[in-house]
Amino acid sequence: MQKALKAIVKVGETMGADRLIQVNHVHVSGISYYNIGEAGYKFIELLYNSKVRTVVYSTLNPLGMDIEKWKEMKIHEEFANKQLRIVQMLLEMGFERSFTCTPYILRPPARKEHLAWAESSAVGMANTYYGAYTNREAGPLALFSSLVGRTYYAGLHIEENRRPNVKVILNELERWFAIDKGIASSIGYVIGEKISDAIPLIPLKYKPSFEVIKAYTAAAAATGSIALTYIENITPDFSKYNHETLERIEIDKKEIEKIMEDREVDISKIDVIFIGCPHATVEEILDFLNDVKDCRKLKIKVIVSTSSFVYSYLENNGLIPKLIRLGVDIIKDTCPIVSPAFYSKYKRIATYSGKALFYLPRQQNQPTSLISSERMWGYICEK
Ligand code: F3S
Repeated sequence: MQKALKAIVKVGETMGADRLIQVNHVHVSGISYYNIGEAGYKFIELLYNSKVRTVVYSTLNPLGMDIEKWKEMKIHEEFANKQLRIVQMLLEMGFERSFTCTPYILRPPARKEHLAWAESSAVGMANTYYGAYTNREAGPLALFSSLVGRTYYAGLHIEENRRPNVKVILNELERWFAIDKGIASSIGYVIGEKISDAIPLIPLKYKPSFEVIKAYTAAAAATGSIALTYIENITPDFSKYNHETLERIEIDKKEIEKIMEDREVDISKIDVIFIGCPHATVEEILDFLNDVKDCRKLKIKVIVSTSSFVYSYLENNGLIPKLIRLGVDIIKDTCPIVSPAFYSKYKRIATYSGKALFYLPRQQNQPTSLISSERMWGYICEK
């Protein structure tokens, strides 16, 4: 615990912090054995053997496999044993059995609540949607915070550092941003590339859904290091700031079409559609089921990744057999980006997630196309 505290203090000092603060919820990434490998495994084992325990509500990111379906996923036994041992050690240390990148579904953060969260997509949601305060922590540092219940008082924990500094004008994209997860994702993708670590502010006439914000924040955090965006009608403190004096950037339709077209959105070349980066919510899955309700079957295979929490809801409401009948593969506790089961597996994956568009080619050598969530069902439905 002393070492954990020292590491937090050291990072805090570099960030200019003058003290530590208490946090109510820690979220730890870097749990998939595929991502952390032997070094990460040994690090967790070292902590486990020194008998440290969490002192605050602490959740965990996805694993490299579905705990129940790993054989079906054709995961190598040696990998599975390592992954299961990681799970066992972390659960004994007091972590919640969450295995999701959407910890806000399990415990929605309160406005202005201080958190220590790793997982950039969740950090974006905490700051942007809930108005909570968290930096974008590294996985091991978040793990240390779970053992001491503290983080350093710097960065986005300080009100003064949370001022927006770039106003993003969406012009004719405003309406699409509010309703289409694919378009919101590509806007996040472009903003992340253009302004990297700024704090953007987006004026908006419409109110986007929770899932749209989830898609946007994940993409902006993947191509850039954006951890907070002020979105009109969404972010609690939006009206607090005068945005007339901010530097302006404009994003137009052509830039968005380029992201989609550059990656050859030709549905005949696509063999899988992936939903659930970040992990799909109940509403997202219900929306999908509603969109395909008149389809006899799906022309393209669909993979959905979600949390066990959402999975249980679907199970209790009789929706799993319905999804299976349609030919949907639903996996929980993991996702196609952090699992070895998806390396180079498909010709081309289509998704409305900008984060998946960024990571699938890099991490899984998987050609990927970004598609509109509103038009998606039209591509795949056989009547
Ligand atoms: Fe979650 Fe995997 Fe995407 S961990 S944010 S579904 S890359």
